Amino acid sequence: MTKKTAIYPGTFDPITHGHISMVERAVKLFDEVIVAIAASASKTPMFSLSQRVALGTEIFSNLSQVRVLPFSGLLVQFMAEQGACIVLRGIRTAGDMEYEFQLATANRCLMPEMETVFLKPDEQFAHVSSSIVREIAMMGGDLVPFVPAQVIAAFEAQDR
Ligand code: COA
Repeated sequence: MTKKTAIYPGTFDPITHGHISMVERAVKLFDEVIVAIAASASKTPMFSLSQRVALGTEIFSNLSQVRVLPFSGLLVQFMAEQGACIVLRGIRTAGDMEYEFQLATANRCLMPEMETVFLKPDEQFAHVSSSIVREIAMMGGDLVPFVPAQVIAAFEAQDR
């Protein structure tokens, strides 16, 4: 039987409990999940691509079906390189839907065999986003409810 690989793309600047909740659900559905960390240069990320990949690798080291890889350029090109055609995306609230449908439609135009699978992350993380986490960190707020210990340590190292 062919291995079912799902690609979970994002900027992950940084990874939050919401993202982790998505991956933990996905490993129950797919043989392999590739967390694809986009360079997203236009977003001028706070953490470098290599820092984000290192954090992801550490955070998901307990899940043997998960690989964390960087990519730049089009998602469809990365999918083709990986021989994968399933993209995983999260719908946290109804507000996410319009953008997600746009993204899925554009990706399908570029790669007709691509299927986007939507999962709903845990409710308690519905309003978490990476930029909210960065803002809380900048203002010295408690990050424990939003991100794992490895990300808190990375913010602390950034401050030094
Ligand atoms: N839990 C917590 N936060 C979540 C989340 C979840 N389950 N799902 C999304 N988010 C957050 C993200 O952290 C992000 O927060 P931020 O904007 O504050 O940084 C925000 O919601 C938006 O997420 P997303 O839409 O996934 O944006 P992204 O920048 O992380 O990822 C890419 C977008 C990388 C998937 C997309 O731009 C891409 O594919 N780029 C490659 C180039 C390409 O192919 N472009 C054409 C696409 S048609």
